[in-house]
Amino acid sequence: MQGKKTSQETTATMSNELQTNPKGQQTAPKSPVGLLRKRGQEAIPKMQPAMMMFSSKYWARRGLSLDSAMYDQQHLASSMLRRTSFNRIDERPDKEEQKSTHDLGKLAVIFSLKNEVGFLVKALRLFQEKHVNLAHIESRRSKRLTNEIEIYAECNCTKKEFNELVQHLKDHVNIVSYNTPQHVWSAETDCLDCVCVLGGLPDGEGIPWFPQKISELDQCSHRVLMYGSELDADHPGFKDKVYRQRRKYFVEVAMNYKFGQPIPRIEYTAEEVKTWGVVYRELTKLYPTHACREYLKNLPLLTKHCGYREDNIPQLEDVSLFLRERSGFTVRPVAGYLSPRDFLAGLAYRVFNCTQYIRHSTDPLYTPEPDTCHELLGHVPLLADPKFAQFSQEIGLASLGASDEDVQKLATCYFFTIEFGLCKQDGQLRVYGAGLLSSIGELRHALSDKATVKVFDPKTTCYQECLITTFQDVYFVSESFEEAKEKMREFAKSIKRPFSVYYNPYTQSIDLLKDTRSIENVVQDLRSDLTTVCDALGKMNKYLGI
Ligand SMILES: [Fe+2]
Repeated sequence: MQGKKTSQETTATMSNELQTNPKGQQTAPKSPVGLLRKRGQEAIPKMQPAMMMFSSKYWARRGLSLDSAMYDQQHLASSMLRRTSFNRIDERPDKEEQKSTHDLGKLAVIFSLKNEVGFLVKALRLFQEKHVNLAHIESRRSKRLTNEIEIYAECNCTKKEFNELVQHLKDHVNIVSYNTPQHVWSAETDCLDCVCVLGGLPDGEGIPWFPQKISELDQCSHRVLMYGSELDADHPGFKDKVYRQRRKYFVEVAMNYKFGQPIPRIEYTAEEVKTWGVVYRELTKLYPTHACREYLKNLPLLTKHCGYREDNIPQLEDVSLFLRERSGFTVRPVAGYLSPRDFLAGLAYRVFNCTQYIRHSTDPLYTPEPDTCHELLGHVPLLADPKFAQFSQEIGLASLGASDEDVQKLATCYFFTIEFGLCKQDGQLRVYGAGLLSSIGELRHALSDKATVKVFDPKTTCYQECLITTFQDVYFVSESFEEAKEKMREFAKSIKRPFSVYYNPYTQSIDLLKDTRSIENVVQDLRSDLTTVCDALGKMNKYLGI
């Protein structure tokens, strides 16, 4: 059945937010029931609380192209149905597009700003205010001022626009230089937060940096594109000073967290517990008929060991210890949105970045961003399943050192499996995707006859458009996590890397299989495991008298 929404479901529209249908006609945006809600005369789109890494789309919709966070730009650009009220900088009015092409060029500005929470976000907004498209951005610790970071920003714009931008920037940040060649700037010192050359790789030039040991995930998890305390004007908590202050506290907790430390316990307020309770109560009504059996098996265990109850918000530290025992996964707090590359890198180490804050109390069944309800109720029960954990890690491992294009494809596969995946169990469709398991409206929709369901195949799924303000047009079904994992493993072979990666669970590091010696080391480990298996088989045969 088609998953297109019916006209009856178009209950309200966002102001200034027209869509274009396939015939080129402008229409009010289609809004599935439950996704739009009226607030006075205006309606707010109910974004799916998908995942922190899909922030890149959030940024892209505001016209920022952040290096490895350039998620699905082509898809976004081609999707007329997804136009929103946010003007993408590369979607400027027609008169802007009529500029002669020779007037456009790449111009770069280097500026420095204080290395404090939210400063980068504010600086990047200056580009948006001047409608300047960022083509490339890098950052590093300033060599000139110890408490500042330097930003190299390459822009696609006219010289006139560039000059206006620089004048605007001067009022807010310290300009270091204009149009310094990137390689000159990069050569000044090690670039900490950008594409790097990996040591030890035979043909490693241009391989994007990735963590090679688990402690290096600190770099990934602290490289936040947008902090959770930076709320949009249409966020339910935007005008609530107490809530915004509370969100800053959660940012501090996450940004101070380092690998190996216990996750700080949060003393949730009565209001936060009440909000969690509403979400918990409503979702748990649906799980018996909608969630997959692995989910249903683990939820009672989480109640027993981690305090999953209507009147208690589980602590990430307890959840992390529980997951470690069940599947080897752990969680860590994150302050805000990560790029797909940084988010997937965590999965390679069986580490899941989790928010700790709770959505605003005025609207318990709505959140414009992932919150801890989404993480704890959507993701955690499945992460406790060993086969699901292995599948998740496969996607993460495939992303290490992959090109931006391949990371985009992997992120899309992640989206349609770990966030919105379906599976078949006992002849019925069941849900295992966290985006669905934490959304009452879409959980019902995905298993209704209105949803379109296709077989998960990474080769084609990776091109499917991800929707973040409406229900998905298509959901993908797998026979099992094992099957999905094998498909992802096969798909990973198409990723262009001059090496393979092997996760070493003893050292929690990534071994690069790039020469005969490194491969021999892995073979020795495997041989040792095989000896153990053969020994067990021998004993079993002897016992059975075979
Ligand atoms: Fe998620």
